[in-house]
This record gives sequence, structure tokens and C-alpha cells, in this order.
Amino acid sequence: MICLVLLVLFSQLCVSQVTPSICPFNLNRVRLTNSRWTENQDRTVAYLKFIDVERLLYNFRANHGVSTMGAAALGGWDAPNFPFRTHMQGHFLTAWSYCYASLGDTVCRDRALYFVAELAKCQASNGYLSGFPESDFDLVEARRLTNGNVPYYAIHKTMAGLLDVWQFFNDSTARDILLKLAGWVESRTSKLNSSQMQAMLGTEFGGMNDVLADIYHQNGDKRWLSLAQRFDHASAFDPLASNIDRLDGLHANTQVPKWIGAVKTYTGTGSSKYLNIARNAWNFTVNAHSYAIGGNSQAEHFRAPNKISTYLNKDTAEGCNTYNMLKLTREIWMTDSSVGNSTHHFDFYERALINHMLGWQNPQDKHGHITYFTSLNPGGRRGVGPAWGGGTWSTDHNSFWCCQGTGIETNTKLMDSIYFTRDEPSSKVLYVNLFTPSVLSWVEQGVTVAQTTGFPVEDTTTLSINSTRGDSAGNWTLRVRIPAWTSSEASVRVNGEKVAVAAIPSTYLSLQRDWKNGDRVTVRLPMHLWTVPSNDNPSVAAVAYGPVVLAGNYGDTTLTAVPKLALDTVRRAAGGKIEFTGTADSKSVKLQPFYDAQGYNYNVYWATSGRLPA
Ligand SMILES: *[C@@H]1O[C@H](CO)[C@@H](O)[C@H](O)[C@H]1NC(C)=O
Ligand SMILES: *[C@@H]1O[C@H](CO)[C@@H](O)[C@H](O)[C@H]1NC(C)=O
Ligand SMILES: *[C@@H]1O[C@H](CO)[C@@H](O)[C@H](O)[C@H]1NC(C)=O
Ligand SMILES: *[C@@H]1O[C@H](CO)[C@@H](O)[C@H](O)[C@H]1NC(C)=O
Ligand SMILES: *[C@@H]1O[C@H](CO)[C@@H](O)[C@H](O)[C@H]1NC(C)=O
Ligand SMILES: *[C@@H]1O[C@H](CO)[C@@H](O)[C@H](O)[C@H]1NC(C)=O
Repeated sequence: MICLVLLVLFSQLCVSQVTPSICPFNLNRVRLTNSRWTENQDRTVAYLKFIDVERLLYNFRANHGVSTMGAAALGGWDAPNFPFRTHMQGHFLTAWSYCYASLGDTVCRDRALYFVAELAKCQASNGYLSGFPESDFDLVEARRLTNGNVPYYAIHKTMAGLLDVWQFFNDSTARDILLKLAGWVESRTSKLNSSQMQAMLGTEFGGMNDVLADIYHQNGDKRWLSLAQRFDHASAFDPLASNIDRLDGLHANTQVPKWIGAVKTYTGTGSSKYLNIARNAWNFTVNAHSYAIGGNSQAEHFRAPNKISTYLNKDTAEGCNTYNMLKLTREIWMTDSSVGNSTHHFDFYERALINHMLGWQNPQDKHGHITYFTSLNPGGRRGVGPAWGGGTWSTDHNSFWCCQGTGIETNTKLMDSIYFTRDEPSSKVLYVNLFTPSVLSWVEQGVTVAQTTGFPVEDTTTLSINSTRGDSAGNWTLRVRIPAWTSSEASVRVNGEKVAVAAIPSTYLSLQRDWKNGDRVTVRLPMHLWTVPSNDNPSVAAVAYGPVVLAGNYGDTTLTAVPKLALDTVRRAAGGKIEFTGTADSKSVKLQPFYDAQGYNYNVYWATSGRLPA
């Protein structure tokens, strides 16, 4: 089945080789409405419009002998001598594209198109395009890794950004630059035999397989799919293909993009080996290597499986890894028809999005800066610590860490996984995966669906269905995720009347009707307190309320050990907010959503005793 998703200017094949598939909506079809989510989005958009484009061009121009127009170089990871320089610019191209697609913002559009036109001038002499010399590739190919360089990591970001500008603006300059650069990658790697290529893949290369497979999905040219497969990293893929967890000690953010590329290669080739690699990697990471907030890794690395309670450190949960895990989750879910009605993928997505990504950004900062790690040590605090290692906030001009790049993408695509659609033999299906205030324009069906909710502070969401074609809004199936964390009290009403459909936790409720203009579907997902035990020590656990992981508010008090929380003392505070009190180490402590644990020392994992009140 081919499902067409209309892009801003032209259509895109959803998934080519694999049936049946679930399709996303283009970003320009879903608009967030005012909420905690748009506050994050607004801050990031302000930064996208603030950053000096001439300064961002500095390293490209300097490297390619083009005038730098008197602009000053930037600092941090974009400093002219930093080995990863010019990785950030690709993230900006992507975020500007998302900003234009989702908001129609012409400043973002103009920046993206200007940037690409300037990159074309840099690339004019040959296919190569980056902020560092080609000799960096000689070093990586010869395994002479003297300066920590990861040149394909940066090239991947540039390519992914160009692909987005091509897709979202139908910009032929972006397409031409991208295909020339891909051609350069092809000719460069064609000179390596397979053992040389595999050795080179030992150096972090981002999602080269992902973006090359995406180019194939974009223009149908098999050449790029074959080139994507040249980046199949055997030592990473082989154990996963056999469902063996050898992640211990691997640099986490080096791995996850390869798995996303594996899904794209699966959808291109139809070879189930790739899907198994991605599914097994997802399962290991989520179940054996992730914290309650959905993040993984300590000091950027995977540790031994099922050791969460022994790694409650300052440098846990690198932001990029979760950004990439969300992408992977979405890709696997869309691709694998057998998971379309099990909620564990989007239960994880929601957990990581609310508890890691939402609070990753500094709400006090008008440019929405982020931290590299999210500390899970007792008494952790966002935005403090030695340099990036302890979690300081990024800055306007002197950070440009990997996570700053994935952060600006995260906060400009908060709408991308709320709704999906699927053609089933009996009807079209609309999936509602996330409870985020938004309006979907389902143009093909002639309806808009407005979702209004105070979720996760409230447990109810309302979907209002408006027809653009008169009284009838068509005959189709609505499928809403009923999360694992809710109870058998979950319910659904249409226009205020209870309807007899099953709303069972961990499944999708499914409602096919002749929809009428103005129909209102109200879904209630009762929340309760529950513990999220660490996977190695059931008594060390986080406490959650519905989808929200709670954190103890310790003000400026420092903690040296995991506090002991008496679960039976936890009580909800008055006032309708998500706020509880409990007794830990014989003192009263306030428990609040971890995503809002800003400006104070917090605690997420507890040594628990007793049981939570029913
Ligand atoms: C996209 O651009 C190409 C030229 O590069 C043009 O032929 C095509 O019609 C455009 N598509 C749309 C939908 O505008
Ligand atoms: C690849 O090339 C290297 C360097 O020329 C050579 O030592 C090696 O034997 C070759 N390996 C294969 C599998 O051809
Ligand atoms: C998923 O990973 C867990 C944790 O490592 C493991 O116990 C389980 O067998 C895996 N499930 C599948 C289906 O491979
Ligand atoms: C998934 O949904 C389809 C269509 O509603 C149904 O036929 C199938 O039994 C479901 N599978 C599972 C495992 O629930
Ligand atoms: C849906 O229709 C109602 C009544 O006509 C209108 O008030 C509302 O603004 C519409 N909502 C959307 C999202 O179009
Ligand atoms: C709409 O779908 C329902 C459920 O399958 C079915 O009973 C009904 O006949 C359909 N209505 C039309 C007009 O097709």
C-alpha cells in the first residue's frame, strides 16, 4: 500500500515496500494550541530567529575559501578549531523547516533558504561541503584518530538539514547540494574495501544510513539505498540481529541513529533483518537501559543491562539519546503492523517526552536553552555543575553541543507524533497517540479535529470533530491510546453519552461511526500513583502519577544518598495541581512533576518502604 502524505508543496510516499503502514501527518497539518508545550516551542522559535546566520556560515565559508563577510566565528562546538564544527547548522536547517511548516513563519523560511543558497556558493568547487578539511576523512579512514574528529557525524547533520529544506520547501538548491554531497560520500566510500569501511564505522557517524535511505524514500533512486547499506555497521548490528544485548560500554548516541537508519532500510528493502535489529535495540534500551524518565546512558554510555539503581549519577540521560529514541519509537510503530494496537511504544514515547524532553528546556530562558545531561543523582539540579558535564544550560553562542542541536528540533516538532492515519480495508483510521492541545487538519477526510485538554494536569481530553463538507464528517475509525498507566475506569463519551466501546489499558480504543459535524469525543484516563522500580532493585523506585514522574523538592538542601520514602505517607495536596507530600528520611517533602523541577535540588529515585495509598 502506498499512502500519500501531502507535504507543503508536493506529496511524499509514506512507506514504500512494507504493508500495511501507518502514516504520519505532515507538520503543516497539526498546530499546537496554547499550553505548556507551546511555551517551549515559542522559546525555541525565538532562538531560531535570533541566531546570527552570518556567524553560523563562518566555518563553511572559511573552509571553502569564501568571504566570511566580516562575521565573527562562534564558540563551543562550533569554534573554528573544534573537531565537530558545523554539525549544528544542519539542526538549524531542520528546525527552521519545522518552524515554517508548523507555524508558517516566514522568518524561519527565509533563513533556511538563504542559508542553503550560501552553502551552494561554498560547495561550488566540488561536491564536498563542510566546515573542516577533507583531510579529516583521511585520518578517520586511516584510523589515525588524533583530534577526536567525527566528520561523518557532522556531514549527516548537514545532509539531514538539506533534505528537510528540500522536502518542506521543494527547494531545488537544497536538493542539488544534497545529491552532490551524497555523490561525494559515494565516491569517497567506494575507494574503501569492506574491512576498511567497517573499521571506519567504528567512529561515530550519526545517521548516515538514515539520511541516505531517506533520500531514496524521497526520490526513489536505489543508488542511495545501496549507499545507505554501505553504512550498515556489522559489529553493532550483528548481535542485535541475534537479539543479544551487547550495548554495555557503547557510546549511546552513536548507536541509536544507526537503528533509526535500520528501520528506514527495512522500509526500503523489505528485509526483516533490519526491522529485527531496530526492534531488539528498542526493547533492550527501553527495558534494560532506561531510567523512569525515559532517558538512558551514564556519561554518554550504555552500562550493563539492568543496573539502573547503580548509575543514579549527575551525568545521566543525555538529551540527544532520548530525541533519537523518540524518532526510533515512532518509526518502529509506524512500520510494524503488528504493533498498531499495542500501546507500549507510545507509552514509552509519552513517558520520555513528558518526563525528559519537556523539562529539558529552561523555562526561565527566552531562548529555551537546554542541558546536556539530566542528572538523576539524589539532590540533582538542572542548570548547575561544572561545564556541560554537570548539566549547565547551553548558551546563545558558546555551546552548540549535540544536545543543543537535537533540542531545537525537539521543540519545533512537538506536534509530529500526536496523530497518525492508516487505511484499513474497512475504513480509514485516525490514531490519537498523545494528549496535547492541538488542531489537526485532516484534509483528505474533510475534517478538523481539535483536541482540548489540560493533560497531564487533567485526566480528560476532548476531541471536537468539525466537517468542512457540511453536516456529515464521514465514516471512519477513531483509535485512541489507552495508556498502560490508567485503570479500568477509563471511559469514552460521544456528545456527553457514554458509548459501549472497550477502553482497556494498554490497548487502543476503537470507535467507528458516521461522524457528524460538531461531534465531541471525551476520553477520560483516570490517573493514580504508582512506582517505577529500577530494573535491578525493586525497592529503589521513582514515584509517578499517571504519566508524570514526580520529584521531591529539596530546595537548596544537598543530599548525599538516596532518601528513604515511606510510600504510605504520600498524600495529594489540595488545589487540583499535581502535587503531593510524603515523608522521606523522617522529614516532610513536597513531590511535584519532574518536568517542572526547575531552580531547586530534586530527587527522583527513592529507597521505598511500605505501599502507596490506594
Ligand atoms: C517542485 O520543484 C520542481 C522543480 O525543482 C518542480 O518541477 C515541481 O513542480 C515542484 N513541485 C511542486 C509541487 O511545486
Ligand atoms: C582491504 O585493504 C587493505 C589495505 O589495502 C588490505 O590490507 C586488506 O587486506 C583489504 N581487505 C580486504 C577484505 O580486501
Ligand atoms: C526485551 O528485553 C528484555 C530486557 O533485556 C528481555 O528480558 C526480553 O527477553 C526482551 N524481549 C524480547 C521480545 O526480545
Ligand atoms: C489489532 O487490531 C486489529 C484491527 O482492529 C484486530 O483485528 C486484531 O485482532 C488486533 N490485534 C491485537 C493483537 O489486538
Ligand atoms: C468547529 O466548529 C465550531 C462550531 O461551528 C466552531 O466554533 C469551532 O471554532 C470549530 N473548530 C475548529 C477547530 O474549526
Ligand atoms: C459506518 O460504520 C459503521 C460501523 O462499521 C457501520 O455500521 C455503518 O453502516 C457505516 N455507515 C455507512 C454509511 O457506511
